[in-house]
Amino acid sequence: MGKKTILIVDDEKLMRWTLQQKLAEWNYRVFEAETGRDGLVRAEEETPDLVLLDVKLPDVKGTDLLEEFKKRWPDLPVIMITAYGAIEDVVTAMRSGAYNFLTKPIDLAKLQSLLENALEAHNLKKEVAYFREKESRHFHPSQIVARTKGMLQVLDMVQKIAESEASIVLLQGESGTGKDLIAQTIHHLSRRKDAPFLAINCSAIPENLLESELFGYEKGAFTDAKQQKKGLVELADRGTLFLDEISSLSLSLQAKLLRFLETHTFKRLGGLKDIDVDLRVIAATNHDLTVQSQEGKFRTDLFYRLNVCPVYLPPLRERKDDILPLARHFITNYNTKFGKKIEGLEKETERLLQDYDWPGNVRELKNAIERAMIFEDHHRISAQYLPIHIEAAPSRLAGGGKIQEPQEGRSLQDLERDAIIQALNKAGGNKTRAAELLKISRDTLRYRVKKLKISL
Ligand SMILES: Nc1ncnc2c1ncn2[C@@H]1O[C@H](COP(=O)(O)OP(=O)(O)O)[C@@H](O)[C@H]1O
Ligand SMILES: [Mg+2]
Repeated sequence: MGKKTILIVDDEKLMRWTLQQKLAEWNYRVFEAETGRDGLVRAEEETPDLVLLDVKLPDVKGTDLLEEFKKRWPDLPVIMITAYGAIEDVVTAMRSGAYNFLTKPIDLAKLQSLLENALEAHNLKKEVAYFREKESRHFHPSQIVARTKGMLQVLDMVQKIAESEASIVLLQGESGTGKDLIAQTIHHLSRRKDAPFLAINCSAIPENLLESELFGYEKGAFTDAKQQKKGLVELADRGTLFLDEISSLSLSLQAKLLRFLETHTFKRLGGLKDIDVDLRVIAATNHDLTVQSQEGKFRTDLFYRLNVCPVYLPPLRERKDDILPLARHFITNYNTKFGKKIEGLEKETERLLQDYDWPGNVRELKNAIERAMIFEDHHRISAQYLPIHIEAAPSRLAGGGKIQEPQEGRSLQDLERDAIIQALNKAGGNKTRAAELLKISRDTLRYRVKKLKISL
């Protein structure tokens, strides 16, 4: 087999030179580019087997360039090079499909093993095959973590609804509680699974556009209607239409939706003919529709119509026993995605996760685990890689949260700094004791002190 080709995209000459020397020594063929634009040109010319990409480039953002690389060559492994502490960049890059990342100064042993792993063709193929398989299994009840009574009941209802002929389902729950996931699961468990599942977020689209997105239009219905266009209601025929954030529907569209739900027919905009369709509508909201309808913001008749099969997803803070099983579920998934072998959580991390209130619910937990897994190099996730506000949750601050908030508010970092300083003062400067007061480990305290630049 010929030498593998690596493209280095970095604007620092010394960096390129150092890497070039090492890579040549390890028997790779190397090409260099100084700018993002040049990087893409070189990649076209040399079709490299792997790219080392600096996050900071003079002409484009490295993370944007990464997306461009992934668009053109989806299977090309890209290893990002970032400055120490550029956490946001790393998270963005890993989400956009970077194979992995290295921080400067570069650890050469780590670089060498990353290259070997990334280039092992067999591995890559396996990964691709795995993702395909996962795609089809993704919306199976086995992928929904449910240990608490509340969630087990939800799962039970989901199965029953999916198998039933119920044509309208209402999902209520705070943002991040799993409404999308449940909607798709219902579709995939139903007889409609081979027909389309189409989704639209009613709050993201202006009213007039939303109407034509939903119901379509005839040629000439309005000035720009040069062509007939089918709406989602028509395209989702025999399948499922997911209307997310239903409470932001205008009152006039609410009336049109109600008519559609009652008759299963609709007219395209500017059309005369009634069109019949057979679909299941799943509506979701993170608002309480009872309140909305009492306040006159949501039509009562539509609410009753939607509320025939209601499913309520409880917030994560009301089902704390789901937290650790969910965390372990996400660890398993990210192990595969990131090629890691994290076994679980350190005791302290577990406690922090359970004590926290999770205003962003499961989505926030998932993001926290993803972020921690990107950085954790040991077997268990330690507390130091959790987002700062999870560690500094008010209930855990020194003195039981006695910190007074000034009217104008304060950043969480300041809050945390104060808590640490208070604890250190109380403990007479004894770090072990201060850590105990804060209910964190001594290592975490030391890490925080350094990070927040607290002088002792
Ligand atoms: N019970 C659960 N088990 C596994 N993953 C979950 C669960 N609930 C939510 N998730 C995941 O959390 C994230 C947020 O869920 P989502 O369905 O988008 O919430 P919502 O639509 O209510 O805002 C998604 O990635 C989803 O797959
Ligand atoms: Mg959602």
